Amino acid sequence: MASGLLISLEGVDGAGKTTIARRLVRWLRGRGVEARYTREPTGGPYGRLLRRLAHGRRVDPRVEALLFAADRLYHLERVVEPLLGEGYVVVSDRYLHSSLAYQGASVGDLGWVEELNRFARRPDLGILLDVRPEVGLGRLRGRRSRFEREEFLGRVREVYLRYVDRGDLLRVDAEKPLEEVFSEVAGIVEDLLRLA
Ligand code: TMP
Repeated sequence: MASGLLISLEGVDGAGKTTIARRLVRWLRGRGVEARYTREPTGGPYGRLLRRLAHGRRVDPRVEALLFAADRLYHLERVVEPLLGEGYVVVSDRYLHSSLAYQGASVGDLGWVEELNRFARRPDLGILLDVRPEVGLGRLRGRRSRFEREEFLGRVREVYLRYVDRGDLLRVDAEKPLEEVFSEVAGIVEDLLRLA
């Protein structure tokens, strides 16, 4: 493959992105495809700052939007683009549409968040692992499903679904058993590789 492919896995908290992403990478490697797992927020300077801020006082959502956009450009430059240049299939556990959905919902100005992310390349394939927030939150041990979080994630999900309607994300029903979710995702990726 001359240049690689960028696949993003998206969804609200507890959708199963990390499990599916890691498994997808193993599955690709098992088929002789060079693949790498990566994630956002990254472990780089902006990602670390975001994580630190998440533990402190509430941050202005506009500042968060700027930092997530900065972290994404860092991720692209340092990790994603070099791998794509070497022909890897890069599987990103959250990417561009996390900002559009989460910061779109928290800032309330989707156009501005899109503008901030104008320089981030679109994924070649974006998959929404779609679960209702109450289902996602219910899966997360240790994190109680607070009403406020559930309400927010409901709005996040609505924005994600808008990108499904536009054809930018493919929706997979992630409330189904893991095996079924994975085989649907693998089928989509297999089709993509066949075309690539
Ligand atoms: P994680 O739970 O996948 O580790 O992600 C950490 C949190 O960061 C999660 O609540 C979603 C949030 N997030 C955004 O709000 N915008 C973004 O662009 C990204 C990548 C993550």
